[in-house]
Amino acid sequence: MRTVVPRSLLDIDDLSRDEIFHLLDRAESFKATAPPRDLLAGIPVLNLFFEASTRTATSFTLAEQRVGADVISFAPGTSSLGKGETISDTAITLRGIGVRVIVVRHPESGFPRRLAEAFDGHVINAGDGPRAHPTQALLDLMTLRNEFGRFDGLRVAIVGDILHSRVARSNIVGMTQLGIDVTLVGPPTLLPDAFAAQGVRIERDFGAVLPLVDAVMMLRIQRERITSSLLPSLDDYTRNYQLDRRRLDTLRADAVILHPGPYNRGVELTDDVLDDPRSRYVAQVGNGVFVRMAVLDLLVNGARAA
Ligand code: CP
Repeated sequence: MRTVVPRSLLDIDDLSRDEIFHLLDRAESFKATAPPRDLLAGIPVLNLFFEASTRTATSFTLAEQRVGADVISFAPGTSSLGKGETISDTAITLRGIGVRVIVVRHPESGFPRRLAEAFDGHVINAGDGPRAHPTQALLDLMTLRNEFGRFDGLRVAIVGDILHSRVARSNIVGMTQLGIDVTLVGPPTLLPDAFAAQGVRIERDFGAVLPLVDAVMMLRIQRERITSSLLPSLDDYTRNYQLDRRRLDTLRADAVILHPGPYNRGVELTDDVLDDPRSRYVAQVGNGVFVRMAVLDLLVNGARAA
């Protein structure tokens, strides 16, 4: 029985509003001045990615190195989970070896929570199935605050394959908590009406929403999770929901375009979008490193002044 449970970050709602602001302030301070190299000195951090990742895996690794952690990157395909070892036995083993923090991505919703229940250390969810991706939501919030200096009353549209998107789910929770007015846009098969219960608007007409927003977040069609009944015609989808030159012309000059990546050119967006001065994709991935440093610091060291 654990008496003190080490703190984990499994979704954005593990954080209070004040803690989100603390993390964003801390991330900004790390962006302005490199963090002390000994912030996590000697703390063993394990990166455990059961699913492909470019942005999250590399930025966590860099963040861990910058704060002085002992970084262990481990290919789970070669782990003993494949030999029938349970999650809890794996957790006991890793803690016995000395691991204090596990950053985990898994295709199954809830896997990080089950790991956190068994592991006597900190677990950071780096994306579980379609359920949650809290550090992505934090870096998106940081990018929006950099741009607009506020959240309250901002109007953001999230467009595309909402059904399969952990990025959308975590952002809906984080953005609505901070007073952002969120509109979800997509066809009924990829955006069921049930999402309206989360305090967001649902729109099917992308063209009607686009001129009204401060930011538009385009999402990838997750072909690896999608069936043909959910997306009967890719041509119809792109005609109705692709951000292209014609639609860009209706977006306000002071609005910004977000994308969590990876993006599919020619599907949810065209090359014009990535070349557009309103695109903030590069800022987003850059902010990811600072946000992840701040999360590691908060979980391991607790809150302190930015
Ligand atoms: N945004 C994101 O999670 O990208 P990766 O899958 O490359 O980590």
